[in-house]
Amino acid sequence: MEWTREKRYRRLEEVSSKEMQELRERVGSCPWRQTYHIQPETGLLNDPNGFSYYNGEYHLFYQWFPLGPVHGLKYWYHTKSVDLVHWENVGIGIEPAKFFESHGAFSGSALEYDGKLYLFYTGNSRDENWVRHPYQCMAVMDENGTIEKFENPVIHGVPEGYTDHFRDPKIWENDKRFYAIIGAQRSNATGCVVLYESVNLKDWEFLGEVGTELQEFGFMWECPDYFELNEQGILLFSPQGLQPEGDHYQNIYQSGYLIGDRLDFTTCEFQHTEFKELDRGFDFYAPQTMVDHNNRRIVVGWMGLPEIEYPTDRHGWAHCLTLPRELILEDGKLIQRPVEELTKLRNKEVEIETHLTNERKSFDGFNGVTYELCCEFVNHDASEFGIEVRVGEQEKTTVKYDAKHNKIVFDRSLSGESFAEEYGTVRQCEFSSNKIKFQLFVDSSSIELFVNDGEEVFTGRIFPKLESKGIQVFADGGEVKMKAIKWDY
Ligand code: FRU
Repeated sequence: MEWTREKRYRRLEEVSSKEMQELRERVGSCPWRQTYHIQPETGLLNDPNGFSYYNGEYHLFYQWFPLGPVHGLKYWYHTKSVDLVHWENVGIGIEPAKFFESHGAFSGSALEYDGKLYLFYTGNSRDENWVRHPYQCMAVMDENGTIEKFENPVIHGVPEGYTDHFRDPKIWENDKRFYAIIGAQRSNATGCVVLYESVNLKDWEFLGEVGTELQEFGFMWECPDYFELNEQGILLFSPQGLQPEGDHYQNIYQSGYLIGDRLDFTTCEFQHTEFKELDRGFDFYAPQTMVDHNNRRIVVGWMGLPEIEYPTDRHGWAHCLTLPRELILEDGKLIQRPVEELTKLRNKEVEIETHLTNERKSFDGFNGVTYELCCEFVNHDASEFGIEVRVGEQEKTTVKYDAKHNKIVFDRSLSGESFAEEYGTVRQCEFSSNKIKFQLFVDSSSIELFVNDGEEVFTGRIFPKLESKGIQVFADGGEVKMKAIKWDY
């Protein structure tokens, strides 16, 4: 189907139930539906929104275009969970219905206040000349899960010095005041974030641009987030328009963070160290964090990227969210750990232990499509060693340690149906340690790799054949000792 503007901006109620049913069937017969990741029933999912803990449950909304695998009229879709593992599809959370969101209820965040959950999002509207007019809007969810919008936006338009690329408010509370950070583009077409303050969530005052050292760092910063860990401030955002640099910035757009002193709310200054990417893989964007009742800082990302075609598109859907990861600040770096609750997914366990010397091995009963796999490699003198998953006759996805160059490598060049090849099929990053631990979460069409308990994370979609189920371990140019446990999911 050709996705004309008209088709992208159709509303759900304009579509017949027959058309919806056909779409559902098309999605249902897709071989790459995920089994334990949040994914849309139909259409396209993008950014996580409104991630929060409220009234005894985790709430996680996402950007949703229901009618196909393209970016069209965006809704907020609502999911919830008591354990961050099993998610219930609640339904549409925010429907773009008012003049200030005529072209989509764009990304935003949530905050509990006074017994209610406040949802702060961008109303995207366009006029007859297709000029964009952003509004920042508020909706409130009560204990029964009923969501009501404010009559009017709480922030109209854009402050002087910035363009209409002005969106994705993230709110938090500090010392009885509320702050919102918003992604922006300066009039000279460079990206940045700005800060607002409020005492009641209704009236917002523009405090200014967050002062960083990054004056020319891409053309737009999307989905900003600010939080504190160990008394340090962390500014997370998704800059667009960075050029690749060595192993860095290989995707179409990036997401990463700055660590610094706590943000100064009076001057808006943020003293920080250099920008670091949060994820080293292929498909990761627009992450959002929340702090839960156990005081954990947890992040979820969109396992996808804008402007890239994926093999599921022809099945009428696209993308999923990542697993929730707990964030820990250690030695000036964010460590990401899959939340502990995920161990609930562990079923049948198989363990192997072996020595590898210039060889490749597989083991009976050691294979699968959806599982968690933990491998530890020690005493290595091999020049490289690692693991291949979803191995079939002509397919495999390789995760390895290249000891010669001290690099972790995630190679999807033979993973299955190819896509986004213009951005390369290998991701790698520097890493040196004499003990290497790979923890992999493998779902029907994705891999999330945690290296040495979250020091590095690589996230990637893969589209192998269903029958590609093999697992192989290998060492080249020497020896390594290894131990692995696999749990079926
Ligand atoms: C990031 C983004 C946001 C915007 C949303 C629209 O992926 O472009 O900036 O609010 O997606 O769906």
